[in-house]
Amino acid sequence: MPEMDAIPTLETRRLRLRSLTRADAPAVQRLAGAPEVADTTLNIPHPYADGLAEQWIAGRAEVARSGAGLTWAIVDRSSDALFGAISLIIAQPHQHAELGYWIGLPFWGCGYITEAATAVLGHGFGALGLHRIHAHHFARNPASGRVMQKIGMVREGCLRQHIRKGDRFEDIVCYGILRQEWEAAVTR
Ligand SMILES: CC(C)(COP(=O)(O)OP(=O)(O)OC[C@H]1O[C@@H](n2cnc3c(N)ncnc32)[C@H](O)[C@@H]1OP(=O)(O)O)[C@@H](O)C(=O)NCCC(=O)NCCS
Repeated sequence: MPEMDAIPTLETRRLRLRSLTRADAPAVQRLAGAPEVADTTLNIPHPYADGLAEQWIAGRAEVARSGAGLTWAIVDRSSDALFGAISLIIAQPHQHAELGYWIGLPFWGCGYITEAATAVLGHGFGALGLHRIHAHHFARNPASGRVMQKIGMVREGCLRQHIRKGDRFEDIVCYGILRQEWEAAVTR
């Protein structure tokens, strides 16, 4: 697989997916710091402490340098305003990656994640030569499941009470798409 020492900028109709910079930290803290965003994600804490966004951005750059994953800021193509973030966590030996994403509450329901994830799938199966991309969501977060369906992923199963979030055990719904399914969809 190709070297991934940089995060390529991806363009869609309304969005630019670019590397996160330290200047994005205040917007990351404000948007990811909303309880609604933390509620259905595994790794976003609430409350979102000062300094955490800077730490997270630096950590994502380090992961990109190591080849273990890519995280993009999702920004408005014309204003560069930050909407959210999207990532691929890559397992090179298996040529597969896990897709993850969040979008700030003011921007929910605009189709931004679907648009961003479609571009990231294209990059994963195209430039990165991945064989499979998978994702999962809390069963109580059907909007995320709908996004996975809209980008062509197939529901593969449910891991019952697999994750502990706070004081509850969460059912996790798993989705995936194989290279040949993606190729068939884009050439259709
Ligand atoms: C999940 C999340 C990324 C969706 O972002 P979004 O920008 O609203 O997504 P989109 O607009 O691209 O698509 C949402 C789809 O879900 C649908 N949807 C919304 N609420 C729904 C619900 N309760 N049940 C079923 N579908 C729902 C929308 O109608 C839309 O589908 P449509 O285009 O067919 O109408 C966003 O809510 C978010 O960031 N949540 C917090 C973090 C998170 O949960 N991340 C994902 C972890 S797996």
